Amino acid sequence: MNRRTFLSRLGAAGTLAGLGAAGSVAGRRDDGGPTGGHGDHRAHGGHRGMGTVGRVDHERNGFHPHDILTDFDAGATSRDRQGRIVHEYEIATVPKDIEVAPGVVYPAWTYAGRVPGPTIRVAEGDRVRIRFGNGSDHPHTMHFHGIHAAGMDGVPGAGEVQPGEVFTYDFVAEPFGTHVYHCHSLPLREHIARGLYGAFIVDPPGGRPEAHEMVMVMNAFDTDFDGDNEVYAANTVAFAYDVEPIPLEAGEPQRLHVVNMTEHDPLNSVHLHARFFRLYRTGTSLEPDELTDVVTLGQAERAMLEFSYREPGQYMFHAHQTEFTELGWTGRFEVV
Ligand code: CU
Ligand code: CU
Repeated sequence: MNRRTFLSRLGAAGTLAGLGAAGSVAGRRDDGGPTGGHGDHRAHGGHRGMGTVGRVDHERNGFHPHDILTDFDAGATSRDRQGRIVHEYEIATVPKDIEVAPGVVYPAWTYAGRVPGPTIRVAEGDRVRIRFGNGSDHPHTMHFHGIHAAGMDGVPGAGEVQPGEVFTYDFVAEPFGTHVYHCHSLPLREHIARGLYGAFIVDPPGGRPEAHEMVMVMNAFDTDFDGDNEVYAANTVAFAYDVEPIPLEAGEPQRLHVVNMTEHDPLNSVHLHARFFRLYRTGTSLEPDELTDVVTLGQAERAMLEFSYREPGQYMFHAHQTEFTELGWTGRFEVV
């Protein structure tokens, strides 16, 4: 089944939501959708295509893309004998079926039951200790992008964990930036495609200026295992931020951490409408690299974007690979 066939089976919701085809959305509802609520959707501009064919059951997934946006996990903190701040985590990898688009359930492999895994956030120079347990039938790892000893690399032969076993990764976080972790067991392609990745944010000493911060991990799902993705998203659920736009305040400084963990496609990107952002590549500098409105990232590449909206209104953001947009990687900020 190719992507297009998949889309038509999805019930046309995929494309329509992305394109804002109000008339067609309404038509679709009249064909076979549940009765009631037509007027609501039209009144809101007919943009909410996903609503026409159902909603993802976030509760059953056990996580919500809106929570993942701002869910920064500092772990349990204490100090070691050297006076270093220590962040301790317990993370298990478990297989879990997750709904990535309405009615589309993908047999994911997860860190802590969610895709992406927890956003681990510490400051440069802090110590990170992760007790990593493997509750699945395959060996797995947590391979962090960052500076650490060879034995802490989270690859086969250095921190790979067999089913039912536990390993503790222990390292000092550096350098500051927007980073990523992912499984590095073999075959690597499958371990990443299944959902074993997450953001790893290391703050500079002294922090950054006050801002409303968000994290988006760009990902995709090969739901029929043909080596090609059928569903695209930021933070896993297709169209999640289009069905429910992200509320922001006008004038408020925004800081968006973007990580690309898309497998099977060489590139992914994020484009903001009606705004330019200061781009900090890998987040490793206090000075921006450029002022732009689109950034394209290879797998495991990441960036920090700073911007703010002057006026209330709805502002789109999406991949500028238009196919990805139509297959779920699009959303809106609702600026009030
Ligand atoms: Cu793995
Ligand atoms: Cu990597």
